[in-house]
Formats: sequence, C-alpha cells, structure tokens
Amino acid sequence: MRIGAGMVGQHHSHGSNINNGGHKVGYITNTKVIKKKRYIRRVKRRVPPLPIALQELFDACRDIFKGPGTVPPPEDVQRLSRILDNMKPEDVGLSEELQFFKTKNGVKGVPRVTYTTICKCDNFSLCIFFLPSGGVIPLHNHPGMTVFNKLLLGSMHIKSYDWADPIDSSNASSAPSHLRLANVKADGILTAPCNSSVLYPTTGGNIHAFTARTPSAILDVIGPPYSKEDGRDCSYYKEFPYSAFSSGETCPGIEDGKSYGWLEEIDMPENSQMDGIEYLGPQVMETSSC
Ligand SMILES: [Fe+2]
Repeated sequence: MRIGAGMVGQHHSHGSNINNGGHKVGYITNTKVIKKKRYIRRVKRRVPPLPIALQELFDACRDIFKGPGTVPPPEDVQRLSRILDNMKPEDVGLSEELQFFKTKNGVKGVPRVTYTTICKCDNFSLCIFFLPSGGVIPLHNHPGMTVFNKLLLGSMHIKSYDWADPIDSSNASSAPSHLRLANVKADGILTAPCNSSVLYPTTGGNIHAFTARTPSAILDVIGPPYSKEDGRDCSYYKEFPYSAFSSGETCPGIEDGKSYGWLEEIDMPENSQMDGIEYLGPQVMETSSC
C-alpha cells in the first residue's frame, strides 16, 4: 500500500480522531480508574500496560528485515506470520466498539481511506489502513517488497495478481503492448478474525486491491518500505478480463486451473487519496535502531 507521495499529509490538529467523510477513526483511551487504598503505599508512577504483541512484532521485524534486495527466509516468514496471526485489534489500540467500526452503512460521497504509521525505518514499516464501508485501496504493487497483511477488524474483498510468465504473455499476442498478462492469485472475501497473509516481490499476489464490505482495519508489515528515491515507488493498475484481448486461443495455463487478467499501468486514481492520522495506540520501545 502506498505510503508517501500522493497522500494527503497528516492532520495532527484533530488529536486522536480524524473526520473521515463523516466517520471518525479513534483509539481506545486508557480510562481505567485506579482506586487509592488507605494504608497501602501509593504507587508513585503509573506504568502503562506493556504492548507485548506489538513489541514482539517490532522486535521480530528488526531481526528479520535486512533491507532492500533481501527477502526473509521461510523460517522468518513463519515467525512473523505466527505473531500476526495471534494479534488482536486491542494490540494496536483498536476495538470493534469504536464508532468507526459500528457505522455499517456507507458514507456520503467517496468513502476515503485513512492510514496511520506505527513506525518506519529504512528496513520496514508498520502501518494500519482504515477503510469505511465501500472504501477502496485500488490495484497497486509492492516493488521488491515482502508484505504481511493482517485484517484486524471488518470484512473486505481482496483481489491479487502476480505477473504471468513472459512466454504466456507473448503467446496471447492480440493484446495492445501497454497491457501485461497477470495471474489471478486471490479473488475472495476475508473476514476478521483471520490469519495473516504474505506476498513477495514476484509471488504471493504482489499486486493487490481491497474493497471494504464493512468498516475495516488492516495492519501492514512492509519490508522494505516504499521509497521513490530507491526505485520502490508505487504503481497503480487497471484490470481487464483475459477474454477482452485473447486471440481466441486457449488461455495459457488454463489446464492448471489458473485464471488470468490484463493489467494496464495508470496514474494514481484521484478518488483513492488517503488521509494520514497520528498513531495513538500502544507504543513500541526502540531499544536500538532497526
Ligand atoms: Fe498493498
């Protein structure tokens, strides 16, 4: 998912909430009252609860992501996936009781997506995307990246592609040259609570799109982060069905049950700009730089 150029800047003036087309994304605030007891020595300093799961995720990311040009080995992917599989909305300060997630009906106008960045360094970033009902993160890629997605709340449709073998593309020769053949990797509905998923630079559905069926929050672990300067800018795509430009011959790989589509690179869709908000959930302790 895109972080950086093209997005609307952060709106810190709203504090913990941001008006998102009539909807507010908020965080749980620690309102627990600690009763003082007579005759018992008062606790001098209130210690906030430790964000164990988020800290574990951060520490694992620091160990696992080695920077541009690297992909975590399978055992590291398993480690991160296990941590994410067990994470709950509360681990990042969210709850289904927040008004944003209770607003089941669509919003007026274009339902804008909001994002917040928990942390970002040269090797990885942790972000949460908030989609109101009907909100869309359009088809986009993750060049050279390994990305873990964990749907924390809500239900969304996900469609993802990987580029097809160039030989298959050249066999289906009736397509205009600006279109490129891609395999459909996923085309289905995801509803929380659910396990995390992972995509790689060339496999696992590196090009993907989300459409929220209900107000949703998805946690992204991205390594390395987008960087225009380092050649990892985000590209957007428009999809066409395979049949729209097939030459009448058999679809390549159809015997294997594979499904295909044509992708055209486009400018960032105007109605897909996002609003950034400050992250106010549990903090991680950065004991050393990542
Ligand atoms: Fe993405």
